[in-house]
Amino acid sequence: MPDSENYAVEQLFSVAGKTALVTGGSSGLGLIMAKGLLLNGASVIIASRSQEKCDLALKELEQYGDCAAIAIDVTDESGREKLVNLVDQKFGKLSILINNAGANWGAALEDYPDSGFAKVMDTNVNAVFSLTRDLVPCLEKAASADDPSRVINIGSMDGIHVPIVQRVPTFAYSASKAALHHLTRSLAVDIAHKHITVNAIAPGFFESRMTDYIFEHYKQDIEDDCPLHRVGKPEEIVGIVIYLASRAGAYTNGTVIPVDGGTSISKGKRDWTQ
Ligand SMILES: NC(=O)c1ccc[n+]([C@@H]2O[C@H](COP(=O)([O-])OP(=O)(O)OC[C@H]3O[C@@H](n4cnc5c(N)ncnc54)[C@H](OP(=O)(O)O)[C@@H]3O)[C@@H](O)[C@H]2O)c1
Repeated sequence: MPDSENYAVEQLFSVAGKTALVTGGSSGLGLIMAKGLLLNGASVIIASRSQEKCDLALKELEQYGDCAAIAIDVTDESGREKLVNLVDQKFGKLSILINNAGANWGAALEDYPDSGFAKVMDTNVNAVFSLTRDLVPCLEKAASADDPSRVINIGSMDGIHVPIVQRVPTFAYSASKAALHHLTRSLAVDIAHKHITVNAIAPGFFESRMTDYIFEHYKQDIEDDCPLHRVGKPEEIVGIVIYLASRAGAYTNGTVIPVDGGTSISKGKRDWTQ
């Protein structure tokens, strides 16, 4: 193929024919990313704890392409084993792993429970490490030097700056996302020789179940604190995923990409501690 054809958007950003797993794909950003991949020709498995949410999501996603859903808990070893088996049986090889399932806990310092801190770290960091390790053989089968397999970790701008919404401190969440960003870099260095890249997306505020409460109470403040004065749109998450998963992103490795309208580099307008 001559060079100029390689530059066409349809070729450069294609994910058609790829196989993808999206953890936490039954709602919010995970559901959006699964839909974006399906609409662009990838086959997708989604996983989350609730059977009911998986069934509902699958009903919607099946309209767009080849999709399967499994109700498992990523923090549970036997759940991860079932998931790896499904990937192996359905796809045989995995081109794109999106570690998106996440948890949060907000409480004042004096009330912040050890169990809440542990749950957030377990979901947002430990499970990502274990699942990625266990899926490396499947990722390796789909990988080549020209078209590496991709691990995309969903971090957060809160792993870059100290969250501005200080009225509801989320100590474990920001610590877990900073850890996830650095885990991304260590894994990227470690498995690059297997032709697997590892990157993280650090979203700002997007509408989801996780942000329901905060949007209800503080949406105006959040918009005021974003240099672009708005929250993110679904297609802006799909766009970065398609970039990282396609040939356009094949040489991008070990990065953390903020998609936050500039919020993480902005001081913000108000003193949230007041
Ligand atoms: N929305 C934002 O503004 C924003 C900003 C920055 C980063 N993020 C990150 O984006 C990711 C998705 O969050 P979201 O905002 O879309 O929230 P969400 O709508 O609450 O989605 C979270 C998803 O993860 C699943 N999940 C949670 N714990 C799980 C577990 N232990 N095992 C398997 N699945 C699990 C949930 O389904 P079940 O309840 O069925 O398990 C759900 O599908 C998270 O990592 C979050 O930290 C979001």
